[in-house]
Amino acid sequence: MEKVVLAYSGGLDTSVAIKWLKERYNREVIALTIDVGNERDFSAIQQKALKVGAIKAVVKDAKEVFVNEFIFPALQAGAVYEGQYPLATALARPLIARLLVEVAKAEGATAVAHGCTGKGNDQVRFDVGVAALAPDFKIIAPAREWGMTREETIKYADRHGIPVPITVASPYSIDENLWGRSIECGVLEDPWAEPPEEVYAWTKSPDKTPDKPAYVEIGFEHGIPATLDGKRLDGVSLIRQLNELAGAHGVGRIDHVENRLVGIKSREIYEAPAGTVLLRAHQALEAMTLSKAQLRFKQKVAMEMADIIYNGLWFSALREDLAAFVASTQRFVTGTVRLKLFKGNCTVVGRKSPFSLYSFSLATYDKGDKFDQSASPGFIHIWGLPVRTQSQVQGIGETTEEET
Ligand code: ARG
Repeated sequence: MEKVVLAYSGGLDTSVAIKWLKERYNREVIALTIDVGNERDFSAIQQKALKVGAIKAVVKDAKEVFVNEFIFPALQAGAVYEGQYPLATALARPLIARLLVEVAKAEGATAVAHGCTGKGNDQVRFDVGVAALAPDFKIIAPAREWGMTREETIKYADRHGIPVPITVASPYSIDENLWGRSIECGVLEDPWAEPPEEVYAWTKSPDKTPDKPAYVEIGFEHGIPATLDGKRLDGVSLIRQLNELAGAHGVGRIDHVENRLVGIKSREIYEAPAGTVLLRAHQALEAMTLSKAQLRFKQKVAMEMADIIYNGLWFSALREDLAAFVASTQRFVTGTVRLKLFKGNCTVVGRKSPFSLYSFSLATYDKGDKFDQSASPGFIHIWGLPVRTQSQVQGIGETTEEET
């Protein structure tokens, strides 16, 4: 019998998919569950996959790879989709696609499967990711094909003795990993409705956070966060600790109506405490260590990078090219940023770097001023020359009769 490797979460859809792939495609299913920092009982998930009928259930800890190869490069790029979403789910999908392909090759399978529906971004990220890495593979998306409603899926599960998790009672669709948590569906589908407190799991409501601010210092080396309050930490631990700390102060709640690739606007709630703090800190350090020209150009790259990641094009030549540019910009992004966490806000209050381009003697209005003010009039004369010329010939700010 031919085999298929299924990205298995342990939830209702992917559990039903194990049976369905056997029934409909006559394939033996190898379940693959990836640990990207979502706190789950992975051995229970593994047991469930086997119980439901998988011939093998593999769990892979991919936290380190996720942080070093996906999260940190995105942080260095400053990639935030539509100015709001730090891209947690979008970054994990290409990694999962890569592991699906790896495991499939190791197991002698030429097909992979995932539990995405046909309405979201995740199907695109999986399908395009697999297409890039194994162009000849068959990709099966049961939930996109079977046309069952939620009710019917539950009935199917009951009929086949598949345990229906109690979390199915929750009206929300949730995805989480180290870089953030997303919540959709239920009452959130009304963009006017304030998210009920129950949707949040990582962040405290700002009215229940400590009345005293917390200060945190992030040390960066070449744009990579390396220390927290002076203590050297591996990336996974640093993000974990920062999620706890910032979450306790209510930092990292995001309420966004976003544009999906498939043309739908959707209301998304995100929690990204560590992401919020690190993106802000990194930006503050770049403001001090990059030139104005580098910063201006890098902003365009950041937006392009965010779109590429969101739109499922991680494994593309353009993403690699832009990543090379970003890596080059990070040569001197080394230093420390101090932030204040208080009542849902995260504010940069200090920054320092051995490569700082900030010059006290140029900036100061006090004693020690080295800026030569007598050079300014000449500079301004030439800077304003085109404006003066055009004004003399064509006038500026007055509407002429010919124009009206
Ligand atoms: N809207 C976000 C994105 O497209 C989050 C998606 C969450 N995925 C999910 N299957 N619940 O990246």
